Amino acid sequence: MKSIPSLLLCIASIYTLEAKEPKELDKDVNYDEENLPAYDLPPLLTSSEGKPITTPDEWFNIRRPQIMSLFGNLVYGTVPKPSSPIKTSFKVLKEDKTFLGGKGTRKDVRIRFENERGRVDMLILVFVPNNVDKPVPAFMKHSFSSTHGNDFDVHFLKKNCFKNGWPIGEFFKRGYGFIAVYQQDLVKHNEVEFLKGIHKLFYPKGQSFPKASEWGVLSTVAWGASRAMDYLETDKGIDAKRVAIMGHSKMGKATLWTAAQDRRFALAISAQSGCAGAALWRRKSGETLDKMVTRFPYWLCRNAWKFVNNEDDLPVDQHMLLACIAPRPVYVHSAVGDTWADGRGEYLSAYHASPVYRLFGKKGLESEESPPVGEAIIKSDVGYHIREGGHSVEMFDWLKFLDFADHHLKK
Ligand code: GCU
Repeated sequence: MKSIPSLLLCIASIYTLEAKEPKELDKDVNYDEENLPAYDLPPLLTSSEGKPITTPDEWFNIRRPQIMSLFGNLVYGTVPKPSSPIKTSFKVLKEDKTFLGGKGTRKDVRIRFENERGRVDMLILVFVPNNVDKPVPAFMKHSFSSTHGNDFDVHFLKKNCFKNGWPIGEFFKRGYGFIAVYQQDLVKHNEVEFLKGIHKLFYPKGQSFPKASEWGVLSTVAWGASRAMDYLETDKGIDAKRVAIMGHSKMGKATLWTAAQDRRFALAISAQSGCAGAALWRRKSGETLDKMVTRFPYWLCRNAWKFVNNEDDLPVDQHMLLACIAPRPVYVHSAVGDTWADGRGEYLSAYHASPVYRLFGKKGLESEESPPVGEAIIKSDVGYHIREGGHSVEMFDWLKFLDFADHHLKK
């Protein structure tokens, strides 16, 4: 058992490490707007055959499937057919109606996947406010924190949000549920083998590694959120038609891919998702594809490696991923100090996704200029804020996310 001071030291060193890591890679990284490469974004509203896309039907039937297939096969990797049917079961392992002094109920729910190749469990946490008379809207968070054990409770019980913690009390106050899905239940953070975890249930005899177009880590994490949504559709406390998916950083990347693929999610929030998230590949500002696949080779699928230093050859850029979430609202969050995630590139992505929102009669971002620091764009179907500070989700950010959800999910 670790003493409290050594635990604190351990936590401090994790955060220092996180903060330091990109700096060490800084040498050949561009952060200067003056030194950006010239680039053209691939067309959003013209089909591969050169046909202009002018109606929501054409978007849904022609252009969107083309773009989704490109993202699936070239960027994140597609989920293959399992080698034999997977049986999924849900079990509420624990239910605590006295959570946060009786303000809410916490349920620990096990989702079990099994077939002849093996068995894998994921554990999700579902929090709902008490004393409500109908199913509540909710946020589902792709979470870095484990859902196993009770260690995370310390984060919620604080009045203010602990760095990267979850302000559950605030969610209850505003009438929301909160679901945490742990990113490492199905696949490890930086998996390089893929023999264990959920992948083994999908491998036919003789396969032990994803094919070049098959799911990497982020795609696996996204698949997990969809399975958590399968569970929510059976939970009477949650209004499954009003669930926002949210994630920070690596989990923000997974969030956008989840929301694009699974249209049951009503809204998406990407917090500082950066490279392979909201930021445009072609700007090559902050983290680049090269940096990403060097350190995290299988977050994306192996086909993505072919575009290292050849971003211009990619038939997609990340504004097209945001557009695939339309007409459902999407919110992008950046921080001035988080240059590794290229806040300007994140904004431009949201801005360039906006024509698809307008095709649906929705409101997109109107100005190519990023808004002033600290000013949130809430009353638009494409929302955004950039604040001072660095790579974290602060209480300020959570409140803006909730304002955005209030505006769009409670109308
Ligand atoms: C690294 C990685 C980023 C990622 C971040 C995180 O810095 O390079 O792409 O967003 O970790 O997940 O915190």
